Amino acid sequence: MRQDWNPETYAKFRGFRIRPAMDLLAQVGAVPKGDVVDLGCGNGAVGAALLHRFSGRNLIGIDTSPAMLTTAGQTGAYSSLIEVDASLWAPQTPPALIFSNAMCHWLPDHESLFSRLVLMLAKGGVLAVQMPRQFMAPSHQALRDVAQNLFADRFDFTDWCAPVAPPQSYARMLDPLGEVSVWETEYIQRLAPVDTGHPVRHFTQSTALRPFAEKLNEVELECFITAFDAALSGHYSPEKDGSVLFPFKRVFFTLTA
Ligand SMILES: C[S@@+](CC[C@H](N)C(=O)[O-])C[C@H]1O[C@@H](n2cnc3c(N)ncnc32)[C@H](O)[C@@H]1O
Repeated sequence: MRQDWNPETYAKFRGFRIRPAMDLLAQVGAVPKGDVVDLGCGNGAVGAALLHRFSGRNLIGIDTSPAMLTTAGQTGAYSSLIEVDASLWAPQTPPALIFSNAMCHWLPDHESLFSRLVLMLAKGGVLAVQMPRQFMAPSHQALRDVAQNLFADRFDFTDWCAPVAPPQSYARMLDPLGEVSVWETEYIQRLAPVDTGHPVRHFTQSTALRPFAEKLNEVELECFITAFDAALSGHYSPEKDGSVLFPFKRVFFTLTA
């Protein structure tokens, strides 16, 4: 059964998750008239900042998660919130800005996705995107290894491809569509010690671990988590104070149509 996102668990690492969104927003220049769209708005963590920057505009939040949308509604930042898959969504009027922080990596075929989004924009409008590019890191490799070792009947990564390409690929892919700026940042996140398990597992629990948890029952999930914690201990050892340094790569771009 598909489980909904959990806004509380997601918000536990708000500081680490909001920083890339602010870094992306800082690179968005002037935009033409039109609405601002927060594509994959989640719990509305970026809503206030978008509204502050583009005050007086309609801010429209798009997401598939009812729980996240309810929390986003409580921020009071959004003019409207729409429960729809971003790959199916189409705006009623051409937006000035489509801002998407940490969502597009859940969608396939980035070439079609981004050209479709760019075509929706008002003339001179901006598409601004940030995606984690952590899929080859030990944390995410461990998710796949543990899943395949313990539950080979449900997990097979033989033909698996990372959902986010290197930044150079986006620079080439997006160049024909407008004025593009692409960059990558590796954040060295110091995760606080936790009472049980590994800090990196707690960080991934509300995001990267979700698709794995969805295929497991409660007992299986407990086995999975024990093995995942053990694998993470081999890759990310604690500092003297018990915290863990967790490097995390994110790719960004802004595209002006
Ligand atoms: C990691 S959260 C990011 C939320 C927010 N942008 C932020 O910066 O905090 C990812 C969000 O993308 C949403 N999402 C995932 N796939 C989606 C899709 N196909 N269409 C719309 N939203 C989607 C999830 O429901 C979740 O709220």
